[in-house]
Amino acid sequence: MSITIAIANPKGGVGKSLTTMMLADGLALSYGARILVIDLDPQAGVTKSLLGIDAEQELRDRRIGLGAMLQAFARGRDIRLASHRVAASDLLELQDRQNGLIDILPSNHELLGDMADFERSAHRKRRRDRLDVQLSNVIRAEVKKIDAEYDVVLVDCPAGPGVLGLTGIRLAHHILAPTSLETNAYSTLTDFLKFILADDLDLASHVMVHPLITQYQATNSIQREMLLHIKEGLAHLNAISKPIPYTSALQNAAAHPGVGSARTARQKYGNALPDVVALAKAVVERISTNA
Ligand SMILES: Nc1ncnc2c1ncn2[C@@H]1O[C@H](COP(=O)(O)OP(=O)(O)O)[C@@H](O)[C@H]1O
Ligand SMILES: [Mg+2]
Repeated sequence: MSITIAIANPKGGVGKSLTTMMLADGLALSYGARILVIDLDPQAGVTKSLLGIDAEQELRDRRIGLGAMLQAFARGRDIRLASHRVAASDLLELQDRQNGLIDILPSNHELLGDMADFERSAHRKRRRDRLDVQLSNVIRAEVKKIDAEYDVVLVDCPAGPGVLGLTGIRLAHHILAPTSLETNAYSTLTDFLKFILADDLDLASHVMVHPLITQYQATNSIQREMLLHIKEGLAHLNAISKPIPYTSALQNAAAHPGVGSARTARQKYGNALPDVVALAKAVVERISTNA
């Protein structure tokens, strides 16, 4: 059975999509892991990072992706996730590995409209469950059918309090919550944890939450102090202890490449490649000690 990790935090711009991409690459490269990425964000940052900025039109023409899957659902058709995913293994190093691969269920900006179709169809069918519960049930059932093909399912959640983000965390065994080190971000994270604890469907007993400090600048003394403060409460917070440093190499890696621009891990991450590997290791350690 594969393990599902949602990368989630209601705050935007804290590094969710970058973390999803690093983790997919890091797990595939370091562990030969077989990864399915589910992009739940209409902004489609991970889709563009992994498939290229120009893939969007082609995917739309071919009616592939989460949005197309929801449209099929709304029309009462077969929605097979298996036929809506695409291969995203652009890391040439992976070709040397026996098992490492990255597939993605892509997203695009039309996902919001497709969600409205999904909602209308649920309404017609007089379903009583909340939309996030319905959608997570639909996706979970589809993932189950292809579960044996993957070791890890990574779910990139959008910011905000909406249905799609909630759907992501309902799918998860583990929630990885990237957060930057500023008071605003920290208070959003605390509210997020409270929300999970108070969930009426008992999310808290189904998932482990792991905060992850991103955009960490070791030269910033205020950030260093905050990190120390958080480390004191590590056991309680269940945090990933190693922060992700803020580097231009990581920022470049997250930039969207064009068509046919397969990049090796070295080309993609440059001198930040060891950080990608370290993140994968830290997450594997964290999750296996909490299994
Ligand atoms: N550790 C980091 N180093 C450099 N840039 C980062 C880092 N973490 C995030 N960023 C940048 O911050 C911006 C927001 O990150 P993103 O992953 O899109 O956030 P989210 O998905 O939470 O909205 C992006 O431009 C990304 O490249
Ligand atoms: Mg994002």
